[in-house]
Amino acid sequence: MSGANDSYDPKQVAALSPAALATGIAAALQAFAEARDLDQLRAAQNAHVGDRSPLALANREIGALPPAAKSDAGKRVNAARTEVRQAYAARLAELEAERDAQVLAEESVDVTLPWDRQLPGARHPLTLTQELVGDVFTAMGWEVAEGPEVEAEWFNFDALNIGVDHPTRTLMDTFFVAGPDGSADSGLVLRTHTSPVQARVMLTQAPPIYIVCPGKVFRTDELDATHSPVFHQLEGLVIDKGITMAHLKGTLDHMAQAFFGPGIVTRLRPSYFPFTEPSAEPDLLCFVCRGESVGNPNRPCRTCDSEGWIEWGGCGMVNPRVLRACGIDPDVYSGFAFGMGIERTMMFRNNAADMRDIVEGDLRFTRAFGMEA
Ligand code: PHE
Repeated sequence: MSGANDSYDPKQVAALSPAALATGIAAALQAFAEARDLDQLRAAQNAHVGDRSPLALANREIGALPPAAKSDAGKRVNAARTEVRQAYAARLAELEAERDAQVLAEESVDVTLPWDRQLPGARHPLTLTQELVGDVFTAMGWEVAEGPEVEAEWFNFDALNIGVDHPTRTLMDTFFVAGPDGSADSGLVLRTHTSPVQARVMLTQAPPIYIVCPGKVFRTDELDATHSPVFHQLEGLVIDKGITMAHLKGTLDHMAQAFFGPGIVTRLRPSYFPFTEPSAEPDLLCFVCRGESVGNPNRPCRTCDSEGWIEWGGCGMVNPRVLRACGIDPDVYSGFAFGMGIERTMMFRNNAADMRDIVEGDLRFTRAFGMEA
């Protein structure tokens, strides 16, 4: 390569001759014209305009010329480079336009085409669980009962032997409904459980009574992974002659198997509810490990935290005080009641980990879980 201080040697600067420049221009124009697409054009640009192209080399040789020759050679090289650059820009515009036209043609969507992949709808898994409950119990001859979501305090509490001092009556858990004049004391609440339906049915129907009531309930909880201010419960009530806790246990076991499969039984842990006596909390045998994770560090179970059992609501024999409040003679009739959270049941059954997925209404969740017949 020549340096600025070299003496003038025409051989070294042959690249600057008009003929050499003309050859360089012609080669570049031809390469651009022959480029079929933008990639080929880019390659041609590198070869004919890039640092190692004949024209770039010629440009560099200018420095080696004696001052008198510089300006003339500079003009020629500039003109050559300008011509090549313009040819490049013109061909680039052509090829880009071709590419755009091709993309438009290839990626166009014919909106008039018939649509053959219509996604089948899916019902919300909560709805399905409630329907399953209905099926399991109507198959045994029970009826499905309903009650209002805005409920009289008397049904939600008093009729169920929940006195005015009971903690669930405080603002902590209950949404109280304001009266029409804005007063706090309308006598109405958003029902905190489905148990008031027990009282409503007992007051309007003579025994024998066999009902289930799935429905919405409300408590002043924040929405998080395991709580929601609005959730669903399933209430069951039987009033007949000679009903014992054995009937309750058999019913819970039957329901457990209908929901979770053969062999899944329940156990009753003593508990307290004002409206049942005696009261218990039913636990469900863990349907994943079936109790085998208990005391077995080699086989931990995430579903039941290796406890073997899963808490599953409340139950008990209907308190005679409740029977009496609802006009049923406790010396003639006895009965049992149970209540469990439907979300909780569904979360176990469908392996859904977060309550928020249930309430957010994302179709991806519904589709994944809601396709059961
Ligand atoms: N109503 C109770 C609750 O919401 C559950 C329950 C229902 C307990 C029926 C006993 C009998 O916690």
